[in-house]
Amino acid sequence: MEKRRIGVLTGGGDCGGLNSAIKWVVKTALDDRLVKTRKIEYEVVGIRDGWKGLVSPDGDGDDPTPRVYTLTEEMVRTWDRYGGTMLGTSRTNPYDPKNSQSKTVLENMERYHLNYLVVIGGEDTLGVAHKLHLEGVKIVGIPKTIDKDLSGTDYTLGFETAVNVITEEIDRLRTTAGSHRRIFVVETMGRHAGWLALEGGESCGAYIILIPEYDFEVEKVNQLVSEGRKKGFRYEIIVTAEGAKPSGYGPITKEEGADSFGHKTLGGVGEFLAREISRSTKIETRSLTLSHLQRGGVPCAYDRRMGRYFGIAAVDLIVKEDFGKMVSYRNGRITAVPLREAISQLSLVDVQTQYDTDRYNGRRTILNS
Ligand code: F6P
Repeated sequence: MEKRRIGVLTGGGDCGGLNSAIKWVVKTALDDRLVKTRKIEYEVVGIRDGWKGLVSPDGDGDDPTPRVYTLTEEMVRTWDRYGGTMLGTSRTNPYDPKNSQSKTVLENMERYHLNYLVVIGGEDTLGVAHKLHLEGVKIVGIPKTIDKDLSGTDYTLGFETAVNVITEEIDRLRTTAGSHRRIFVVETMGRHAGWLALEGGESCGAYIILIPEYDFEVEKVNQLVSEGRKKGFRYEIIVTAEGAKPSGYGPITKEEGADSFGHKTLGGVGEFLAREISRSTKIETRSLTLSHLQRGGVPCAYDRRMGRYFGIAAVDLIVKEDFGKMVSYRNGRITAVPLREAISQLSLVDVQTQYDTDRYNGRRTILNS
């Protein structure tokens, strides 16, 4: 029987559902019933710490232990229940213009006899996957990011778990906000996409939702808050995406530096807005940044299930020798799209049909839009 080796890695920010996807890549590749019909025996190796695992597979100063090791069904049996990634992750960019290591990645794939790669990632990690595919690597992608900003798919792993965290945390915040008659500005992640803030805000019933796709006026926020108080509201929850910005300004960033993919760390708009609101309205206003809590914890049922379907579909692509694709969920079906399409542009909120620019909130008419 022919033998082939599949490498699997997770790159970029961690999130719910990654371990389920890894588990189902392993289970599907090793499935003994399927082995008989395929006439190929696959071995699956886990590559630790994202692309770093293929840049320094033998380990390095950060971690001297080898980064490539065989995964068995027994090892991954319980993984789908856990958050994070059992393989570890990094934001290493082998195509970093300041330190290109793509040749090393290709050499190490040869050295470790990796015939195929399954890459679980967002725009950056899958961008690297696309470049490697153009260099001849037999590669398939699985979409993941709490930002849900990849094109070509209606779902990216981790999103629903993050929305659940936002909803649960805001439920907790409501009781204390109400007791004290306070306004709370809650800042979510999402980078340049408003999906997390919008769908998180809709799920928890936020009074105002601010997204990067539509610049807000501070005066308008103050006016909406004052209207609420006149109606007798005791408290208001405002959800803002980290990438939302007051009109005329750029996104608020935490520090000057950028990561190896050129991203600056966003953050601070919640604090800024809370200060502005309390200064103008004199209503006590606090801010809370949910930060990495949104990426942590137990994956929700949906992410476990989607991880399963995406993992199975990734192996289907390998069996069909259909490379350079990302598995995707579109119009209620699991399918696949070219990696090029997935990373061609960010998928952003369509303000016209999905956002109410008058209320700064989710739309109030759905069938008519
Ligand atoms: O892309 C996922 C994400 O969580 C973004 O929403 C956020 O801006 C960024 O990663 C944070 O990155 P890090 O984990 O490197 O701080």
